[in-house]
Amino acid sequence: MACFECMKAKLEKYGQQHLLRYYDELTEDQKAALLAQIDDTDFSVVRVGKSDEVRGVITPIPCTELDEINARRDEYEAAGLEEIRAGKVGAVLLAGGMGTRLGSDGPKGVYNIGVTRDLYIFECLFRNLMDVTDKAGNPIHLFIMTSDKNHDATVSFLNEKNYFGYDGSFVHFFRQEMAPAADYNGKVYLEDKFRLSTSPNGNGGWYSSMAKGGMLDIVRKSGIEWLNVFAVDNVLQRIADPVFIGATKLANCVVGAKVIKKAAPDERVGVICLEDGHPSVVEYYELTDEMMNAKTEDGKPAYNFGVILNYLFRVPELSAIVDAKMPLHVVEKKIPCLDADGNLFKPEKPNGYKYETLILDMIHLLDSCLVFEVERKREFAPIKNPTGIDSVESARELLRLNGVEL
Ligand code: UTP
Repeated sequence: MACFECMKAKLEKYGQQHLLRYYDELTEDQKAALLAQIDDTDFSVVRVGKSDEVRGVITPIPCTELDEINARRDEYEAAGLEEIRAGKVGAVLLAGGMGTRLGSDGPKGVYNIGVTRDLYIFECLFRNLMDVTDKAGNPIHLFIMTSDKNHDATVSFLNEKNYFGYDGSFVHFFRQEMAPAADYNGKVYLEDKFRLSTSPNGNGGWYSSMAKGGMLDIVRKSGIEWLNVFAVDNVLQRIADPVFIGATKLANCVVGAKVIKKAAPDERVGVICLEDGHPSVVEYYELTDEMMNAKTEDGKPAYNFGVILNYLFRVPELSAIVDAKMPLHVVEKKIPCLDADGNLFKPEKPNGYKYETLILDMIHLLDSCLVFEVERKREFAPIKNPTGIDSVESARELLRLNGVEL
């Protein structure tokens, strides 16, 4: 058991002694749980206010656009299918997020978007994956990242649904790490007298969490050379798309990023570019007016392609950056916490910060990226909100357009 004096000293170092406020009231088990959590927690992430990373010189990056892809589609697809059939491709589903904007209690993937029948978000993803594995003639390994907050519910749901017909022996779960959540003065909240408030640490740590969760043994043993990483909430997501895999391989790139043409200069998608000559993504909230209005020599918007959280990484290069330092994003959040009387309080408005690293920052750590355009109507139906933009409503419309019965 972590020793009380050592944990007290650790908290003092980070100005977090208040976390022991209720210590004397706790049972022995609760004391042990609190000390263990303090021992496990990295308090160095906690900071006050937004981070002020200085960006390098931003310039446009060339994009492989739809016309070019369509002209070489058969060649790309054949090359991608060859990789899949050789067992060299795995997929990683990022499902550790909290989905707070959607506001449903369970994991996002168990959300039912059907109208006249049940149709779960996870089901859409498994079906999309099976379009490819049926064509290839073999399943691929699918690694699913969960967090402490949704792991059990995710695993039991998918078991109960029998992976929607996918071969369960090819599905593996791993948990991402949690990070402490703090008030506006950088004081970590308690969500119980013996438990710190925590939040999943963002989607940027997926590869190191795969390593910690023992997933890389499977990657190594089965000879996987490419990992296609994708978000849980895009129900039109194409997974292990052979055309994308073949194009990235034939371009000799170590990363591929699926992108869409932006609908408007201020659309809320991360924009792909070069930063100091390396591929990079600038988040929508960091976009300057200059970037939004910049034009190429032939008068087109210079930064016109947004990422859709579907990336293809080459495994050897990933292993080289697994311990690289990533920028920390400080995000305002509603954090359940104890009130002055020690009772649980669920705020209606943001009351502090969570700390995250993001997968899009991994792109900048790598040397070459194929920017691969996809048709937004066919591949981009994100579900972030119940209604309005990027919502259950808009995704339903797009699913119908693609012939999916609801
Ligand atoms: P979002 O940025 O949309 O975050 O995640 P979210 O937590 O799901 O939703 P909000 O912001 O609370 O409404 C994009 C993708 O990254 C995954 C999500 O599950 C989703 O697939 N993600 C996000 C993680 O796996 N872990 C995280 O810590 C955060």
